[in-house]
Amino acid sequence: MDSRQWDERYGGDELVWTSTPNQFLVAEVAGLPVGRAVDLACGEGRNSIWLAEQGWQVAGVDFSAVGLAKAKRFAELWDVKVTWLESSVEDWVSPPGGFDLVALLYLQLPQPARAAALAVAASAVGPGGMLLVVAHDLDNLTHGYGGPPNPDVLYEVSDVTGAAVAADLTVERAEQAVRVVGTDDGPREAIDIVVRARRVAGSL
Ligand SMILES: C[S@@+](CC[C@H](N)C(=O)[O-])C[C@H]1O[C@@H](n2cnc3c(N)ncnc32)[C@H](O)[C@@H]1O
Repeated sequence: MDSRQWDERYGGDELVWTSTPNQFLVAEVAGLPVGRAVDLACGEGRNSIWLAEQGWQVAGVDFSAVGLAKAKRFAELWDVKVTWLESSVEDWVSPPGGFDLVALLYLQLPQPARAAALAVAASAVGPGGMLLVVAHDLDNLTHGYGGPPNPDVLYEVSDVTGAAVAADLTVERAEQAVRVVGTDDGPREAIDIVVRARRVAGSL
C-alpha cells in the first residue's frame, strides 16, 4: 500500500488501530532509562504517545499525512508532546548521534523496500541504544489470527537480524512471539516476530 492508500484507510474519525501501546514494546522498554526515541511507521501514534507519557522525547515518522493528523489530535487529547514527521521510512534521515530507542512496529512493506527501511532503522540506533522491531510473521498467514493476507509484506526473523548485524548491532532477542487478541469469538493467537538489538556504547 502506498501513502495515498494508507491515507484512505485512516480517513474516518475512528481509530483504525487500538489506542493501547503494543505489548512487546511495553515489555521491552520497561526499566530502560528514558532518552530519545523514534517510532518509525508510527501510524495513529499509539506507541509514540505511550513512550512520551513514560518520559521519552519522541519523534513519530510515517508517510501518511492523514494518519499523522490523527496521531497529533490523539497526542493533544492526552496532552503529550511528540514531534511528528511526514516521511517514508526509507527516505528518512536520522539526526546525528541517533536515538536511544528506534521502534519499528508492523511496517507492512514488500522487498526491497523492507530491507531499505530496516537498514535505515538499524543505522539510526545511537551508542548504547536499542532497536526494537515487531511485525507480523509469515507463519501468521497460515497459523495465526488477523494480519495482512499478502505474504509479500510478512516478515521472517532473519529479515531483521540481517539488517541489525549489517549495522553493527548485537542481536539480543530474535524470535516468533504469540500475541493474544481479544475478539467477539474469544481470544485468538497472532504470530509476530520480535527482534531486539543493541549498539554497544562507544561503537559508533
Ligand atoms: C499497520 S500500521 C502500524 C502503525 C503503528 N506502528 C502501530 O503499531 O500502531 C503501518 C503503518 O506504516 C505506515 N507505512 C507503510 N509504509 C510506509 C513507508 N514506506 N514509510 C513510512 N510509513 C509507512 C502506514 O502509513 C501505517 O501507518
